[in-house]
Amino acid sequence: MAIIQNWLPPSRENWELIFTVWQLFPVVTVVQWVTTFYPMGKTSIESRFNIPGKWAWVTMEAPGFLTLLYCMYSLPKQLGVESLPWANWTMAGMFTIHYLYRAILSPLVLNPSMSPIHPLVWALAISFQLLNALSLGGWLAGYGPTTINDWSGRLYTIEAGIVIWGWGLLANMYHDDDLREIRRAAQRRAEKKAKEEGKPVENVEKVYMLPKNGLFYYVLYPHYLCEWIEWCGFWIVGGWACAPARTFVVNEIATMLPRALSGWDWYVEKFGREKVGKRKAIIPGLL
Ligand SMILES: NC(=O)c1ccc[n+]([C@@H]2O[C@H](COP(=O)([O-])OP(=O)(O)OC[C@H]3O[C@@H](n4cnc5c(N)ncnc54)[C@H](OP(=O)(O)O)[C@@H]3O)[C@@H](O)[C@H]2O)c1
Repeated sequence: MAIIQNWLPPSRENWELIFTVWQLFPVVTVVQWVTTFYPMGKTSIESRFNIPGKWAWVTMEAPGFLTLLYCMYSLPKQLGVESLPWANWTMAGMFTIHYLYRAILSPLVLNPSMSPIHPLVWALAISFQLLNALSLGGWLAGYGPTTINDWSGRLYTIEAGIVIWGWGLLANMYHDDDLREIRRAAQRRAEKKAKEEGKPVENVEKVYMLPKNGLFYYVLYPHYLCEWIEWCGFWIVGGWACAPARTFVVNEIATMLPRALSGWDWYVEKFGREKVGKRKAIIPGLL
């Protein structure tokens, strides 16, 4: 059953159109190179339109994996594909695992606090999610490989891709958690101080410090770098011909690279060039 006729799940014609539009996404991100206006996270602004950080993350990120899973469920029936090969389901599972962590677990369970997000950024993020999910979902659920023969001879590459994806995800989680620990520690200190002085506990929601563990020693955005590695692993699983996985990697880099570079400027402005030291933004020793 289609939720939106010919769009969810997409007909082949619409899927091709979506994929073409999605490949042009880096053009939109050019704006990020010419302005520092990016109303979320460290650079969030005060606005009455702001969406609370945690709910913004849930609502802008969750539609991605839900859309992809819906395509996996509905499109094969529509196309008369009896069952999809295990490799298609493996990729759908990898995508779902990542976004269960990013869209549900991180904001609702793990993150101590998240800055509010302006609807403009929220709208761009949900567009990213929907276009990406339809592009990947269409490929995985009927317009890409549909029989196990389509994957033949690729077992070792698939295994290698899964290993790279897994390490990338774990490393992304590790560095995310290093940032969380800064706020958790600030909360513990604020509670201790409040107890000792008999005053109310100070708000630590906008406390920022220079993270130092793991790859933070070399770069300020290792969690971004590890996420790129993760999705490169995903692309390796899909293979060179998996243009939607390649487009996903390219589009992530297009949006996260300028964010990391302007984030480097933000750290220098906040903590000083000396404290930032030789650390680069995202690629150790390079960028
Ligand atoms: N932003 C993107 O375009 C994008 C795209 C795809 C995937 N992702 C992934 O999503 C995850 C989060 O991305 P993000 O852009 O929100 O990363 P981020 O700006 O580094 O923030 C991550 C979390 O850590 C907190 N935080 C950041 N720097 C801190 C510091 N120096 N001290 C204390 N707390 C700090 C943030 O709090 P505040 O919210 O209060 O700043 C936020 O809760 C990353 O793993 C990234 O790979 C991001």
